[in-house]
Amino acid sequence: MARTAVRSSRKRSSLLFLVLLAGAQGQTVIPTLPPLSASVAAKPIGDSIFPALGQAGLDVLNYDLDLTVDRPGTSELRGTVVLTVTSTQPLPVLSLDFLGPQVMEVRWNGLPAPYRHDQVVGKLTIEPPQPLLPGMRAEVTVRFAGQVGVRPDPYLPINVGWQAVPAVGERVGANFTLSEPDGTRTFLPVNDHPSDPATFTTRITVPAGYTAAASGVQLSEVAAPNGGRTFTFEQVQPIPTYTLAIHVNRFERVDSAAVPVGKGGADVIRRDYFPVGIPAGTRDAYVSTGEILKVLADWFGPYPFSAYGSAIVTPRVPALETATLSTMPVTSSNVRVVVHEAAHQWFGNRVTLADWSGVWLNEGFATYAELLWAQAQGETGDDMVRGWYARAGRNQTRPLVATTESQLFDTTSYIRGALALQAVRVTVDDAAFKAYLRGWVSEFQNRPVTTADLLTYTRTTLGARAEAALRLWAESPELPPLPEK
Ligand code: TRP
Ligand code: ZN
Repeated sequence: MARTAVRSSRKRSSLLFLVLLAGAQGQTVIPTLPPLSASVAAKPIGDSIFPALGQAGLDVLNYDLDLTVDRPGTSELRGTVVLTVTSTQPLPVLSLDFLGPQVMEVRWNGLPAPYRHDQVVGKLTIEPPQPLLPGMRAEVTVRFAGQVGVRPDPYLPINVGWQAVPAVGERVGANFTLSEPDGTRTFLPVNDHPSDPATFTTRITVPAGYTAAASGVQLSEVAAPNGGRTFTFEQVQPIPTYTLAIHVNRFERVDSAAVPVGKGGADVIRRDYFPVGIPAGTRDAYVSTGEILKVLADWFGPYPFSAYGSAIVTPRVPALETATLSTMPVTSSNVRVVVHEAAHQWFGNRVTLADWSGVWLNEGFATYAELLWAQAQGETGDDMVRGWYARAGRNQTRPLVATTESQLFDTTSYIRGALALQAVRVTVDDAAFKAYLRGWVSEFQNRPVTTADLLTYTRTTLGARAEAALRLWAESPELPPLPEK
């Protein structure tokens, strides 16, 4: 029972009565509450790497977030989340991933609803008045406050999710999200799986002197109590939960000229956030962002969101492709990483994973974009490909589909993944390869993808020879020979 709170708001008044009665008799009674009346256990999505994540049949359409950071640099967070949900099968209970702060209140379409929050397992189970049936929509409100949850990264020596950066010297305390693969559940109740992307409205209230930033387009900045500010952002295209960016820091926001690489040549808003006091040279890497978007949009098709830029962070962590606003450490501020994270906006953030075992479909494509950028700068790229091959040969290799957590972000996902795309490319000319990359994005942007999807797509668009090349790179236990024209 440690840290497991069981509450039933329907029973709240009788519970209060019991506690008062026990107090009157001088006894300490730990109230045992009736369990949720629905006894049906919620079924997780069934991810092959993370079998407990998410709920099968749940489709979250929108998250409306109202967050307050009272003390930046700490793990304290409070807020209210309104989820707009529907389902693809009857759901007698809603089961959200949530390791985060203590739940204060849950409402279902505005009315108090019974719930159980297990902060150890990381599930918030909510009982609706009637099962959620396919085609029905509901608004589920969760209010919470306290310390965020902790989720060690499956691969790196960091905790994923809500990051707290304590004040050092001149620098103020800060917070930001770094959530791949399943860290968003450390601070928000979510269906924490990339196969259920959703839209977000994010409102963040911060103390005086702070700036908040988040995925999407800023709608407003208004005064809040005690000199604080409330910033509101809207992300109107669906994104996976792990790609949600939220930053609280003393920032300088730099707006640059919009880039006409959206759908039908629409303008993409350009803004970057630089923490006050970082080395001046850090900014150099971001001057090329607009040009990078142009080169990538030429290969991949229109940029899929309304804005793009970077928010720079000071801890030594890996860069992350947070949607519309990549999270870029000072120490990774170089053009190659900017290209890599920008490419993820198409591969990972717009075209999303059906299962984490297919993460090479994110990392292989983003790594391949580094080659496309180098070639757009007039290089042949031969050195890069040979370098990849040497590196893949020095490390343990495996088929592209990952089978364990620790494989997710290994050399195979990045480098062998990129080489697999090079193996496809050498079977056709560049015009066909470009059409292939663009078609993959346009055809699969609303349908989470697997390696099997890419194999089928490769055969139907480029033919049997291209598919055979990809299959060899996808499935061979050994490293296949260096692909050459
Ligand atoms: N997807 C990131 C990239 O290659 C790498 C990454 C994996 C990561 N897990 C992470 C970054 C956790 C930060 C935190 O761009
Ligand atoms: Zn990557």
